[in-house]
Amino acid sequence: MKQRLGILLSGRGSNFEAIARNVLNGTLACEIGFVFSNRPEAPGLQLARELGFDVASFPSKGIDRAAFDEQVAKLLHQHRVDLICLAGYMRLLTGGFVSQFSGRILNIHPSLLPAFPGLDAQHQALVHGVKVTGCTVHFVDENLDSGPILLQSPVPVLDNDTVESLSARILREEHRIYSEAIAWVLRGNYRIEGRRVIQT
Ligand code: GRF
Repeated sequence: MKQRLGILLSGRGSNFEAIARNVLNGTLACEIGFVFSNRPEAPGLQLARELGFDVASFPSKGIDRAAFDEQVAKLLHQHRVDLICLAGYMRLLTGGFVSQFSGRILNIHPSLLPAFPGLDAQHQALVHGVKVTGCTVHFVDENLDSGPILLQSPVPVLDNDTVESLSARILREEHRIYSEAIAWVLRGNYRIEGRRVIQT
C-alpha cells in the first residue's frame, strides 16, 4: 500500500503544488492523503480542492493552541497519514502534536539553517549581507525551524538581488529538494544520530 502524505499549509502553496505534481506524475511514490489549512482562504487549499484531494480548514483564531493542534492531529489520524509535510504552515506546532508524530513531520525553510530562522528569512539574509543563502528541509520539533536537517541547497546572493528576486531563486530549489527529502524519508534509509541525519 502506498504511504500517505498530509500537507499543512497557510498560503500560496507552491511547495505543495510541486509535491503534488510529483505525486501525480509518479515521480514520488506515495499518495496525498489530506491537505489542511488554518486559513480557509489560502490559495494552496483551493488548489488542493481543484486537484481532488481531501481537504479541511478551520481558523485558529480564539482557539487554544493545544486544542487546535489536537483537532488537526485527529484529522491527520483519520486520514491515515504516514508523513506530515509543512508547506508554508505559519504556526508553531505544540509539543503534544509533535510527539504524536515524532520523526514524521518535515518542514522547508528558505535559508541555510541555523542561519535566519523565523519569518522573512530572505530579507534577513540580504540585511546580513551573506553571499550565499539557500533552503533547508528538516524534521520538525517543538522549536522554531530547529529539528535535524535532511537536505540543504545553497543559492548565491547577487549584488542586485531584491527580496523578490532572491526568494524566487530559492523557491526553485525548495521545490526540488522538498520532494527529494520526502522520497528519502519514505524509503526509510536513514538514521538520526544526535542532530545528524545519516544515509544508510
Ligand atoms: C516557502 O518559502 C517556505 O520555505 C516557507 O514558506 C514559504 C511557503 O511558500 N516555509 P509556498 O506557500 O509553498 O509557496
